[in-house]
Amino acid sequence: MKLPVYMDSHSTTPVDPRALEAMLPYFAEKFGNAASRNHSFGWEAEQAVESARAQIARLIHADPKEIVFTSGATESDNLALKGVVEMYREKGDHLITAVTEHRAVLDTARRLEKQGIQVTYLPVGEDGRVDPDAVREAITERTILISIMLANNEIGTINPAAEIGRIAKERGVLFHCDATQGVGKIPVDVEAMGIDLMSFTSHKMYGPKGVGALYVRKKNPRVRLAPLFDGGGHERGMRSGTLPVPLIVGFGKACEIAGAVMTEESARLARFRDKMLHTIMETLGEVYLNGHPTERLPHNLNLSFAYVEGESLLMGMKEIALSSGSACTSASLEPSYVLKAMGRGADLAHSSIRFGLGRFNTEEEVDYVIGRVIETVRRLREMSPLYEMAREGIDLKTVNWKVD
Ligand SMILES: Cc1ncc(COP(=O)(O)O)c(C=O)c1O
Repeated sequence: MKLPVYMDSHSTTPVDPRALEAMLPYFAEKFGNAASRNHSFGWEAEQAVESARAQIARLIHADPKEIVFTSGATESDNLALKGVVEMYREKGDHLITAVTEHRAVLDTARRLEKQGIQVTYLPVGEDGRVDPDAVREAITERTILISIMLANNEIGTINPAAEIGRIAKERGVLFHCDATQGVGKIPVDVEAMGIDLMSFTSHKMYGPKGVGALYVRKKNPRVRLAPLFDGGGHERGMRSGTLPVPLIVGFGKACEIAGAVMTEESARLARFRDKMLHTIMETLGEVYLNGHPTERLPHNLNLSFAYVEGESLLMGMKEIALSSGSACTSASLEPSYVLKAMGRGADLAHSSIRFGLGRFNTEEEVDYVIGRVIETVRRLREMSPLYEMAREGIDLKTVNWKVD
């Protein structure tokens, strides 16, 4: 087994060698601009783009004409929210989203609020799920868009997207779904789920970084979007800019592979995940699962280890790439807003670790990680005065920490 071990697949994934191979000719040999209509270099590039578009559309049960290429899911989220608001402003000025969305949605919603848009941020249950009834109740005459993610990037909880889609249809409101973590991992069908706009990205599913897509429904209803950029009018006017042909080819191939291997891969990674969950929980006490016990991504495991700081745990296992629930995205080491929204106290939020299994993880690596987690948590707990006190039967909640 080779070190370091990569187990952070929600952050990014390596390019599948088959996708890389498909991309390579499009860097130098077949370098045409897909928008060059007058010569064979352009036709070749255009054909490659259209064949990738079809591969991508097939994976999500869409029509290829409904795929708009972007630079990634951040741009897709921005285009969906800002594009709908600008286009449908006459119709209404209210959006519905949830507190556990990715920053690409939340920060976009905040910016729109500054421009006078009303935004409802729905809470989630302690399993991290959005309640479809809460979505229904939040809809008003002025609502133009519901934006709820398919699966959460930290805790892996899968939202009831099809139910939300049904409610949106009943009320004539558009439904945008950030499916970045779900596409290629679990079955996604934009028709069956009633999705009108959907963001996803190549680098979370073994394709290259720097390319993503926004699914934009073409009929029942036909969704119209104002573009983010002005320019050459590519992508049916919704996203101007020369298409990155090699990246698109890699993205297409990654989608084709995902469709072919998904059933087997999900079952294998879920088995690894359950092995990690059960072995770690049974060996160490006071380990808590974050997120829904069953409605979760097959490759996601998020655990809180009482009396242990997530960051210290990561520092104690530097040869394993994982993510903590209080990643240093801010100077203050704020605990994860997702865990807080689920009602996890600051202590358990600070002690959380996200394991993101991927296509290339082996059982040997899984066993190695299990062993190292158990060993490191034990060592850190041995050094923790709080753990010592708890073991002596002291209820930490009753302790007066002040020194007079
Ligand atoms: C749910 C979700 N949405 C959006 C993004 C942003 O994706 P990209 O890196 O392609 O901009 C991510 C990536 O972390 C994500 O997990």
